[in-house]
Amino acid sequence: MTEPIYLDHNATTPVDPRVLEKMLPYFSEIYGNASSIDHLHGNRSKKAVDAARQTIAKLLGCRKDNEVIFTGGATEANNLALIGSYRRLREKGRHIISSAIEHPAVLDTLHYLENEGAEVTLLPVDCYGVVDIQALQAAIRSDTILISVMFANNEIGTIQPIKEIGEVSKKHGVLFHVDAAQAVGHEPLHVYDLNIDLLSFSAHKFYGPKGVGGLFVRTYAPMVRLDAVMFGGGQERGLRPGTLNVPAIVGMAEALAIAVQGQKAERERLGDLSATIKANLLAAFPGIIFNGHPEKRLQHNLNITIPGVEAKGLIHLLKDRLSFSAGSACSTTKVEPSHVLKAIGLSDDECFQTIRFGAGRSTMNSLQISEILIEGIRKLN
Ligand SMILES: Cc1ncc(COP(=O)(O)O)c(C=O)c1O
Repeated sequence: MTEPIYLDHNATTPVDPRVLEKMLPYFSEIYGNASSIDHLHGNRSKKAVDAARQTIAKLLGCRKDNEVIFTGGATEANNLALIGSYRRLREKGRHIISSAIEHPAVLDTLHYLENEGAEVTLLPVDCYGVVDIQALQAAIRSDTILISVMFANNEIGTIQPIKEIGEVSKKHGVLFHVDAAQAVGHEPLHVYDLNIDLLSFSAHKFYGPKGVGGLFVRTYAPMVRLDAVMFGGGQERGLRPGTLNVPAIVGMAEALAIAVQGQKAERERLGDLSATIKANLLAAFPGIIFNGHPEKRLQHNLNITIPGVEAKGLIHLLKDRLSFSAGSACSTTKVEPSHVLKAIGLSDDECFQTIRFGAGRSTMNSLQISEILIEGIRKLN
């Protein structure tokens, strides 16, 4: 049996073979603890971590290498950014603004902070999933300490007006955190140009290994200070203690360098590919709805509502040929309609008739994908 075509790159990406090759020596040959700087073995690892930090800092537009704090992924980076800044600033104010379509790594953390006295305003989005700048401005209060808005949505691909939100944050002296797990490596991004104070990212979304990511913590105008959330050996400026995962960090830097280098061409290629699939599906089924912003979106993402066709049924029917996701979040006990799709105005039924395609470097044949999907929809319609 041939492998199904993988179309879930928003969930995760495979490790690029060049990344794997770069990582391999750090599992067995260069194994020193990067904090053991008194001897050769430790120094070798530290050098690799320093070089990786420098590469990532440069590619994100940081001013200093130490603005990059390595974490175990974007969930952890989001927790550190939100909990760390709230606990540091709560004497000044307790109000946090975010959006209704954030990833659970942000929404659940904010919910947790409400138990510590935080007051959270979740901004609504329009039918494309875009946060309204005027609503943001209206929501800011004298006790607002933090704004957290994602760069690009993981379900519908919509890209937020990050520069404008950064300007509003700056004007009001409020910290601005961006969950950029879906954008880093895929979209042009410069933290200082965009007035970002804190930015979360994750290697497995850009062909790096799983379980490693980072948080950009601005050090200049303003110098951002966070309370530590975990305690231990003081690594990562005390913000993320624990022995550094050297192979993963080396791999993440290599993955980001490769992604940024090929970014422009890959965006164009995947934009064309997505447009072709969209056109083919619309030609066959004019009632299909494409969710998210038509232009301001991740080029490799398609979020599609197919009236009358249950997403789960379609995924199951095509599982030997295509691997893709439903637009609904599943828990172990029950299936909930996606909070993102609800926020852009879909009914519960429409949510359950929605699928997500995440194309990537291995996705080549838009015609074949379209044909498989059309055949599947016809069977279920
Ligand atoms: C927008 C967004 N934030 C956070 C995460 C969590 O990232 P990680 O898997 O690195 O914890 C994801 C991944 O699904 C995501 O898409």
